[in-house]
Amino acid sequence: MHSAFNRSRRKFLYQTTAGIAAFTSIPGLSRGMADMQNMVFKTPNRASPNFKPDVEIEMLAQQTAVSIFPGQQTRVMRYTGRLLQGPRDSVTDIPGSYLGPILNLEKGQKVRIHLKNNMDEENIIHWHGLHVPAIMDGHPMNAIPRGETYVYEFEILNRAGAYIYHPHTHEKTASQVYYGMAGAILVRDEEEKRLGLPSGEFEIPIIIQDRSFDAQNQLLYIHMPMQRMTGFQGDVVLVNGKPNAQFDVAGRAYRLRVVNASNARIYKLGWDDGMPVTVIGVDGGLLAKPVSRPYVMLAPGERLDVWADFSGRKSGTELTMRSLPFSGALPAMAERMMGGGMRHGMAFTKLAPGSEFPIFKIRIVNTANDSPSLPATLSKPPQYDLADVANAANPVPITISEAHMAMLLNGKPYQADDFLPQERMPLNTVQLLEIAHAHGSSGGHGNGGMGMMGRGMMGRMGGHRRHAGDNESGHGPHGRNRGMMAGGMGGMGGMGAMMSMAHPIHLHGQQFRILSRSSPAVGPAAESYATVRDGFIDSGLKDTVLVMPGERVHIIKPFQDYKGVFMFHCHNLEHEDMGMMREFLIE
Ligand code: C2O
Ligand code: CU
Ligand code: CU
Repeated sequence: MHSAFNRSRRKFLYQTTAGIAAFTSIPGLSRGMADMQNMVFKTPNRASPNFKPDVEIEMLAQQTAVSIFPGQQTRVMRYTGRLLQGPRDSVTDIPGSYLGPILNLEKGQKVRIHLKNNMDEENIIHWHGLHVPAIMDGHPMNAIPRGETYVYEFEILNRAGAYIYHPHTHEKTASQVYYGMAGAILVRDEEEKRLGLPSGEFEIPIIIQDRSFDAQNQLLYIHMPMQRMTGFQGDVVLVNGKPNAQFDVAGRAYRLRVVNASNARIYKLGWDDGMPVTVIGVDGGLLAKPVSRPYVMLAPGERLDVWADFSGRKSGTELTMRSLPFSGALPAMAERMMGGGMRHGMAFTKLAPGSEFPIFKIRIVNTANDSPSLPATLSKPPQYDLADVANAANPVPITISEAHMAMLLNGKPYQADDFLPQERMPLNTVQLLEIAHAHGSSGGHGNGGMGMMGRGMMGRMGGHRRHAGDNESGHGPHGRNRGMMAGGMGGMGGMGAMMSMAHPIHLHGQQFRILSRSSPAVGPAAESYATVRDGFIDSGLKDTVLVMPGERVHIIKPFQDYKGVFMFHCHNLEHEDMGMMREFLIE
């Protein structure tokens, strides 16, 4: 229960623009979920007269209809953009798509964005992957009702890369994204420009989503509770908002800016003729040098910068990017249900997760005399290592727990302003974090104190340990296995196995480095892992990491520049809305 006094005091605090840091320092003043559900009105952030934008954009959130299929239009929710000032190509529409415009921004630019909400429900935009102050980050507490405008002002501090914008509305992120609200942000910088990578018509955004439609071309969303647990899996793959996507290209090198903007679907990307997938960048920008793999995994929220060279291919030939078969996306039980679901009349998607299907087609329509060649070295991403971290012996745990209808992080559902000790971060530090599944199927708690520096990790997992940046994997000492490897309720043979699934864990704020992964060595989780293990690009900077069943991941992340509240959550958006989200308070 919140008193009227608290409510008016809360409003006052927001109006003082003292910010979240001041707000959270008042003891006894809690912002709970109840507040958000009651939609306590806060004055939205307004334009500051001292901020001189290089780019100014209006983003309108609205309910409208677009043509996706012949015949009836599809009702969607979408962002439309309008450039108020700045370089002409800052806002580029994707013609005929429900997706928001591509925002083309430069490192160092000062950006002001007016989000105007014309929808019947609340909305707020989050700039996924961008390092911005807490009140510019699109926290659910800042959602605005119809008729209101929220003004964002920030400087682009990020490296060149592909980022995403999407709503972060409390318990409505998944549905609002599903109905169409998302878009890509392409940041450029000097380092990237010097490389002369394919640009203009030779640089193609590939925004991948899966959806389901009824016979009237209308979007179908969750219609059974199981779909929340697995995350929504559609049965039509859309690229840039269109089914059966096809791109006509010349026989030369292209740069494909691939974004997984699906709610929950994980893709295993591979070319149908066996050409390796050449990756030049990931979430946080260009890699140090290109990496080629037979296939690459792409989880919701992740991005890939793909170099695709069609040189030497004959005009009239085709090539398809497919999702290749894999397992481990879902609990074994659900995978079986999905596989055999059709027969039992239980199908909740015709496109089972981990099954094989085409994503888009490339058609070579003319030859080219000339093509840029793949640079041997690309960039110098910051390379954090253990010497930089404040807590090498004591990683900050992020614990995944899976129980029936309750996906949790750190053993708790999301609650605003509810910081566990491990969720308070000292400003301007670099931290080692350990993301792992809990030892049981219910609740669970962190493993803080079990450092990776000791015998801990290898003994606990008895698994492969692979360091990012090299491909060597060794067998660790097989100690007493706990975690997913052990029997019983928490192990692979019990509830743990039934519930354990892959989760793309996303952290707001600065990009991190993936230091190492420790994967299961034996049992069903290891068998599943073998179908995906060559597809992780762990070099470069990331903001989202796919954590497979039985897997333990160490990351190094800076917490610099901005105080305040920054979320971290599963980017399976149904999981996020179920409460698989927590927050760091940087102080
Ligand atoms: Cu892309 Cu907090 O999300
Ligand atoms: Cu984000
Ligand atoms: Cu999840």
